[in-house]
Formats: sequence, C-alpha cells, structure tokens
Amino acid sequence: MNFQKKILVTGGAGFIGSHVVRRLVNKYPNYLILNADKLTYAGNLENLIDVDYKENYEFIQLDITNERSVNELFEAHQFDGVIHLAAESHVDRSISNPGEFVMTNVVGTLNLLNSCRAQWNGNFNNKVFYHISTDEVYGSLGDTGLFYETTAYDPRSPYSASKASSDHLVRAYFHTYGMPIKISNCSNNYGANQFPEKLLPLMINNINENKPLPVYGKGENIRDWLWVEDHAIAIDLIFHEGVLGETYNIGGHNEWKNIDLIHLLCDIMDRKLNQAIGTASSLITYVTDRAGHDMRYAIDASKIYNELGWKPSVTFEKGLEITVDWYLNNKEWLSRVTSGAYQSYYKKQYKSE
Ligand code: NAD
Ligand code: DAU
Repeated sequence: MNFQKKILVTGGAGFIGSHVVRRLVNKYPNYLILNADKLTYAGNLENLIDVDYKENYEFIQLDITNERSVNELFEAHQFDGVIHLAAESHVDRSISNPGEFVMTNVVGTLNLLNSCRAQWNGNFNNKVFYHISTDEVYGSLGDTGLFYETTAYDPRSPYSASKASSDHLVRAYFHTYGMPIKISNCSNNYGANQFPEKLLPLMINNINENKPLPVYGKGENIRDWLWVEDHAIAIDLIFHEGVLGETYNIGGHNEWKNIDLIHLLCDIMDRKLNQAIGTASSLITYVTDRAGHDMRYAIDASKIYNELGWKPSVTFEKGLEITVDWYLNNKEWLSRVTSGAYQSYYKKQYKSE
C-alpha cells in the first residue's frame, strides 16, 4: 500500500504513547504509523490490541539507547515525522536509578536526533521531529504562579533533569542544524492503561485489593491533571499545526492537592463498589515523603488554547469516572501488569510485605 506519510512513534506501547498510536492509526488510514518501543516494564502491546491488526500499523521492538539499532531503523525506513514519547517516566524510579534515565531520556533522544538529521540531510520540507516533554522541567511552584513556555528550567529530580536535558538537545538541533522540531510540556496525565506505579492506578489497584493507600508526606503536594486522550488530541494537533521551533504547554487547568484527589477517588470507588462511603478512605496511610518532592505544578496553557484552538474535551469529574470504570472493567489487565516484577518493585518502594 502507498502511504502518504510514514510516522515513527517511539514509546507507543506505553501509557500516553498507546493513546497517541490508536488515535493516529484510526484517524489517518493513509499514514503508516510505526511504533518503536523497547517494551520495558512500562511498555505493553496489550494496550494496542484493538489496532495492531490494521494495515497502517507496524511495531518494532527497539532500544533507543542502542545507536546501531536506531541507525538501522532509519536505514530501513524513510520517515516524514517522528513523535518521540519513549522515556523512563517515573520519578520514584529515577531516584533509585538515575543512570537509566540519562541513558534512555538523554542518549536515546540524541540517537534519534542524529539518525533523523542524517536521513533528512538538510531537506526538511514537511518533516517534523516532535519531542514530548513534561511540566516537571520547570521545577516546583509555591502557592501561586503558573508555568509558562518562557519559564526558566529548574528540574529537581533525576527524571526531570534528564527530560530537561533532552529538551535542550532538541532545541539545540533546531538552532544549530535547522532541524524541524516541536516540543510540548504537559502536566500529569490520567486515564486507561497507566502503569499502576503512578498515583491514580496505584490507588485504584490498592482499593480493589483492600491494601493501604500510601500518601507521600502530608499529601499537600499539588498536581494539574489532564485526561490522557486530551493529551493525545493536543499531540495530534501540535504535530500537524504547531509552528516549527516552538514549545507548547499542555495542561488541564485542574489543580488538585494529592490528599483531596485521593478522597475524591475513594468516594467514587465506594460508590462503584457499592460499599459504605468512608470504606476506601479508611485505607489512607501517610508514608515517608518522596526525596526532593516538588510541591506544586500548574500549567498556563493559553498558548495552545489561543493559537491552536485546543482545550480539554471532558471535565475532570467525567474523565475520572471514565477512568475508574476502565480499571474496574479491566481487572485482568491490572492483575497481569501487577504480577511478577511489580511485586518486588512495590515491596522495595513501599517497604511492605
Ligand atoms: P510510560 O512509562 O508509560 O511509557 C514509556 C514507554 O517508553 C514504554 O512503552 C517503554 O517501553 C518505552 N521505553 C522506555 N525506555 C525505552 C527505550 N530505551 N527504548 C525504546 N522504548 C523505551 O510513560 P508515559 O507516561 O506514557 O510518558 C510518555 C512520555 O510523555 C514520556 O516522554 C514522558 O516524559 C512524557 N510525559 C508523561 C506525562 C504523564 O503524566 N505520564 C506527562 C507529561 C509528559
Ligand atoms: O507532571 C508530569 C509528570 O507527571 C510526568 O512527567 C511523569 O512522567 C509522571 O509520572 C507524573 O509525575 P508525578 O511524580 O507527578 O506522578 P506520580 O503519579 O508518581 O505522583 C503524583 C503525586 O502523587 C506526586 O505528588 C507524588 C504522589 N504520590 C505518588 C505515588 C506513586 C503519593 O503520594 N503516593 C504514591 O504512592
């Protein structure tokens, strides 16, 4: 089949990547979407079973830290665009193993930039290298203020430092070599298929299993939550309509203190599980705080609102309801991803039996 465009999506078997791949495969039958993913503990091809039979979808298992493999991929395929999501993404794991984050997030990004640059060889017409980043590069806010695209970088965890470093490299390739790049920095995503080491699926899983709900510190840290499908919509829009060399902040304008969010989730779970209100929240347990725990993230997303006409499509209440329903209807998915290695991760992270 002759495709109009060939797009490489890295990290497409992960949480956000799988939503991006599904959207692109379904919406653009004339694009070939090639998903390159190492399939770490966070990558799961089961996330894509509804599209993996489609003619315009291909998967290749690839470690982006392996320069030779990345070069070989680019020798085998001519890409019109790259949407780069592959990363080590969990702050807690970056605290115990920073080196892996530097390898994947920094060296892996460098390898992709180099292969792209060599393949496009100065002919950048209709080409895009789109790097997916995070609001964590901007650091930690006090009680007031927002992160703007112009906010100075101040990463404070090995994860955010590695993402900041990759953002700098991507921008450097724009300025130095004229590479056609775009970057977006998004706030906390929630939704289906998120690995249960992150706050919401971990809490849902623990409520299901009647296990303690580990709240770091006093639970007063604030995050700005966005439904993952709204992030995927924004990525599609920026890829097609964003201006080269530009950065776009993406956020839900939806700040929640962790403890308030956990109480809201507990109430929804009690209702869904037909148990007395207060049953789930009785599992809340305060545990040792995350080292260097950023206090507050909040995104100013007015640039993407005003320039590209994007805004979240669902309210938080609706998105959370859909999300809880997904996990309750997909308990087999949860139990498959929480068997094996997850158990030893959990015991080490939460010092539990
Ligand atoms: P995730 O951990 O769920 O998925 C990451 C994917 O990358 C996995 O499929 C994994 O197998 C793959 N991967 C890891 N190392 C690789 C390597 N060396 N080579 C090839 N593939 C590799 O992460 P996510 O939450 O879906 O995040 C995706 C991207 O979005 C990341 O770049 C992250 O920094 C960014 N981001 C995430 C959030 C969020 O709230 N989750 C918010 C803003 C930005
Ligand atoms: O802001 C965007 C970032 O959001 C992304 O770049 C990261 O990839 C993504 O993991 C996420 O980072 P956070 O550290 O904010 O997400 P996490 O789900 O790990 O934690 C959310 C908040 O909940 C944070 O304040 C820590 C707290 N927390 C987390 C866990 C796992 C707890 O209190 N208890 C927990 O068990």
